[in-house]
Amino acid sequence: MQQGRQLLRNDVRKEWANCKHKTDQVRGVPRPPGQKPHPQDAKLIDLVPAEELTMGNAPVRETIARRRSRRIFTEEALTLGELSYLLWATQGVIKVVERRDGPITFRTSPSGGARHPFETYLFITRVAGIGPGLYRYLSTEHKLLFLYADDALSGRLVYACCDQEFVTQGVVLFIWTAIPYRTEWRYSVLSHKTILLDAGHLCQNLYIASESIGAGTCAIGAYFQEEMDEILGVDGEEEFTIYAAPVGKVD
Ligand SMILES: Cc1cc2nc3c(=O)[nH]c(=O)nc-3n(C[C@H](O)[C@H](O)[C@H](O)COP(=O)(O)O)c2cc1C
Repeated sequence: MQQGRQLLRNDVRKEWANCKHKTDQVRGVPRPPGQKPHPQDAKLIDLVPAEELTMGNAPVRETIARRRSRRIFTEEALTLGELSYLLWATQGVIKVVERRDGPITFRTSPSGGARHPFETYLFITRVAGIGPGLYRYLSTEHKLLFLYADDALSGRLVYACCDQEFVTQGVVLFIWTAIPYRTEWRYSVLSHKTILLDAGHLCQNLYIASESIGAGTCAIGAYFQEEMDEILGVDGEEEFTIYAAPVGKVD
């Protein structure tokens, strides 16, 4: 219990004092990439560029007031534009700045030190023009990378989310993984609280953006770690599931 509470506190002066001159950034270790690499010949799917997206103009105040955790969805598919909008709203790259040790990205959601330690995976069931299956969002290219399709995926995901059946009753399930080293490279022991705070921003952006297009979502913190990581094909150590959220249209 105490260890968990310690994570929430910023009372880490001593630990930080011990390590701040030894962070990988200070030691000159190259900045880790802000996005996981993918095979050059991978099948990529173009999304609608951010500057062409016209949805999501509802007043912020009304949208925030309407926000709820939604667990009942209609059958209606999302358009490719709507999915593009939700991805842009959560992890979209607004600006790339070249630093001496490599590029850093500024995105639609904030992240401590602009480290952006997340990857976005999508289990798509009904998005116009995109076949069902598992995908990963490439935020720097604003494209989707197809990973695999499998009829058993829906059932496996429900089980991995502790039998919460609604997680695959929307049209797309967002699953975020964390790659902690992206933040640890800079903040060492201070990283883990920051990563959790970052994840909250990400999901709140999804809540607000979904509401603004007549859709809804529900944060999912209850899942089985190993099962989710296995479905995504991540190693559970350098990259692991941290959060999920199904999206669908709501009445
Ligand atoms: C970190 C976090 C984890 C959550 N995990 C789940 C979950 O696994 N299943 C679920 O049905 N709701 C989950 N929720 C949604 C909460 O139950 C919901 O936010 C809360 O009941 C308040 O309702 P509201 O979001 O409509 O205001 C989670 C919310 C947060 C912020």
